[in-house]
Amino acid sequence: MGHSAADDERVTLGLTKPAVLELPQITFSAKEIDVAEWRGDILAVAVTDKDMLKDSDSKFENPILKSLDEQLHGLLAEVSAEEDFTGKAGQTTVLRLPGLGFKRLGLIGLGQHTPTTTAAYRGIGEAVAAVAKTAQASNAAVVLASSNGISEELKLNAASAIASGTVLGVYEDNRFKSDSKKTQLKAVNIIGLGSGGAVEQKLKYASDVCAGVIFGKQLVNAPANVLTPGVLAEEASKVASTYSDVFTASILDAEQCKKLRMGSYLGVAAASSNPPHFIHLCYKPPGGNVKRKLAIVGKGLTFDSGGYNIKTGPGCSIEIMKIDMGGAAAAFGAAKALGQIKPTGVEVHFIVAACENMISGTGMRPGDVVTASNGKTIEVNNTDAEGRLTLADALVYACNQGVEKIVDLATLTGACVVALGPSIAGFYTPIDDLAKEIIVASEISGEKFWRMPLEESYWDSMKSGVADMVNTGGRQGGSITAALFLKQFVDEKVQWLHIDMAGPVWNDKKRAATGFGVSTLVEWVLKNSS
Ligand code: BES
Ligand code: MN
Ligand code: ZN
Repeated sequence: MGHSAADDERVTLGLTKPAVLELPQITFSAKEIDVAEWRGDILAVAVTDKDMLKDSDSKFENPILKSLDEQLHGLLAEVSAEEDFTGKAGQTTVLRLPGLGFKRLGLIGLGQHTPTTTAAYRGIGEAVAAVAKTAQASNAAVVLASSNGISEELKLNAASAIASGTVLGVYEDNRFKSDSKKTQLKAVNIIGLGSGGAVEQKLKYASDVCAGVIFGKQLVNAPANVLTPGVLAEEASKVASTYSDVFTASILDAEQCKKLRMGSYLGVAAASSNPPHFIHLCYKPPGGNVKRKLAIVGKGLTFDSGGYNIKTGPGCSIEIMKIDMGGAAAAFGAAKALGQIKPTGVEVHFIVAACENMISGTGMRPGDVVTASNGKTIEVNNTDAEGRLTLADALVYACNQGVEKIVDLATLTGACVVALGPSIAGFYTPIDDLAKEIIVASEISGEKFWRMPLEESYWDSMKSGVADMVNTGGRQGGSITAALFLKQFVDEKVQWLHIDMAGPVWNDKKRAATGFGVSTLVEWVLKNSS
């Protein structure tokens, strides 16, 4: 494997070096064949409870199950009944049956209906990943027992959602485990959901988006001693150099940021001995014809201790604050996917003011006044409201790129998690059309968003005695006042939308990053392309 000198010499605090993990490379192909003809390790059949019904002779009525059962001389009917498999949603079983062209048969329960949503088909893909793992299969096929009646358009979406569900379901981030097991699944056939150019193109697109989602997850999962602001900048630069036909990167150091008068961002960075890196990737389409200019701005705190307002007490979550660069991870994950997809007619700026919120004698004190790059002054009444201070200068910089629209993503407030819980992101925008764009994108991506109000009267709580504003208001409406703060740094001519993703960045049960934001951003950029 290609080790560069720089990789080998990088010594992290604690001497942890992540194993270089290859992305799971699964080949998907869509086929219209009879399941009985398929040869391989495991055939997964997704069934509704109706598909499992039998006629008066205890034979399946569903043609696919019927033909499999006939080949097995009635064993499928017998064994599935013994296993008490009824096709309930979420139920799965793996049967080892002799006499078929494949070693194992997996049954995936769908409940009452053949699904219609992206999220449900992604769920089927996740179940395929699970049964393939159980069967230690290196190849698999998946088929819906009842796919007639599904429209051609839904078939395309179903095939690609099953593919992404499988890829993401198979993926485990084992980079920091001393013995990491490799995933075995190499090839998946999707049967009965079409074949040929259109579906193959959709599957390629799904795998490009998944590569971006997995990259986003890896960035968030990486601990803060490994993923410093400098390493985040290197990872972003690597994306740009991999797709150098469409990307350029510029990384500003503290000195350059000082020249741009980014006092708000530099104030946050001041306590850390890991220096800040201001990251700017620019995507220009092949052919160069640009109709729209967009910016995606991500919060990039590689660690948030809270600063002097240190995070203390149960539930403060200081131990997972490596996730505080989830907005940046979404931006760079989307950048990676777009580097593969190469949409035309759109220019996209990816902007992250990366740094670490620490404590030291050189750090910002509560009560200090900092000056942002648009000249506005901020009394820092709480050093733990640091994300908005870094975003202030990043948003001013984004507006200076001459963009028409900006979407920013940030793990900004615990208040948003209190409001919407762990799996829904809140978003804010004064512009209804832009709100609509994100809603439409999220319906395709399957990620959950809820629009929140930019209640201007709450700005009262952000007034300062000495400066233009403070950085935190009262306890109430904390996600709203944070959004109102960001608005102070956006040019009125620019359409702006802010996403608070403090909840959905992390899956507590799985103890892992979700890659939240990547797929919605990709859809949004494509909707703005030609
Ligand atoms: N990074 C945190 C927000 C956060 C909390 C993200 C939980 C993910 C999970 C942010 O910088 C922060 O500390 N916000 C404060 C704001 C407060 C001081 C006004 C918060 O939410 O408590
Ligand atoms: Mn904080
Ligand atoms: Zn933070």
